[in-house]
Amino acid sequence: MTASGTFGYGEEYRDFVDISALGGIIVKGTTGSHREGNPYPRMAETPMGMLNAVGLQNKGVDAFISETWPRIRTFQTNILVNVSGSTVEEYVEVASKIAGVKDIPGIELNISCPNVKEGGMAFGTSCPSAIAVTRAVREVFPRHLMVKLSPNVTDIVEIAKGVEGAGADSVSLINTLLGMAIDAETRRPLLSTVTGGLSGPCIKPVALRMVWQVASAVKIPVVGLGGISSATDAVEFLLAGASAIQVGTANFVDPSVSGRMVDGLSAYMQRHNIEKITDIIGALDIS
Ligand SMILES: Cc1cc2nc3c(=O)[nH]c(=O)nc-3n(C[C@H](O)[C@H](O)[C@H](O)COP(=O)(O)O)c2cc1C
Repeated sequence: MTASGTFGYGEEYRDFVDISALGGIIVKGTTGSHREGNPYPRMAETPMGMLNAVGLQNKGVDAFISETWPRIRTFQTNILVNVSGSTVEEYVEVASKIAGVKDIPGIELNISCPNVKEGGMAFGTSCPSAIAVTRAVREVFPRHLMVKLSPNVTDIVEIAKGVEGAGADSVSLINTLLGMAIDAETRRPLLSTVTGGLSGPCIKPVALRMVWQVASAVKIPVVGLGGISSATDAVEFLLAGASAIQVGTANFVDPSVSGRMVDGLSAYMQRHNIEKITDIIGALDIS
């Protein structure tokens, strides 16, 4: 799948990728109403990665359903909506509106965005609030509920188990790591918000470690992401226990990377005589 906020609504990438080869597209974080996002500058490059503070810029759930969805609904892949909010009520409002659009197979509940002042990551960094928002959304959303976890916590396993108990069908991890960058000449931060979310290859070892820990502790499927840029990276996450993976920042470096990764996975399977890709899920050998 492609990760929320890094692949637009799929339309922007259709010239570069055969969308039907992808497992799914997770669209940009969608909130109860239109959001402008944070002031510029809100992107900064770092060694082996980037910082962003976009801040959930989107047109709101009603515009998504009436304007965007009719344009993308014919894509031959699964489109999941990344549901974001500042209050439990807002998450519930967005999720119930998406529940009304029958051919959307699931949502990804974003309780881990570090770039918004209220809500966002606050829900994903406290176990009781992660449970409360998952439970409330579960009540109104009958189809697949994936909950996206924040790495900015001491014990991600505790939160994963909490949302599993609250009714999540799967968990995805990780969202961005909280970071910052400074211009030494001007003595100013590089982002208007001072801090932002770090993504890209630099976060891969952290993501891999967390996927391995969570996959060893929960029964529901784990979707791995964080710095995945090649088919080999994807295989590493599957070996660590991920049942599926998402590609994020790598789409900015090479817009065709997700399609090429599908081919790369097939080549890996041939090379290792693997019949089904699911055979390598959790097959890490630590003996
Ligand atoms: C510019 C940008 C915008 C993002 N927007 C969202 C978002 O709206 N919702 C969300 O859950 N994650 C969002 N993310 C986080 C990514 O989906 C992903 O979790 C993170 O970047 C780590 O994966 P990566 O290293 O492969 O990019 C965004 C990331 C970037 C770089």
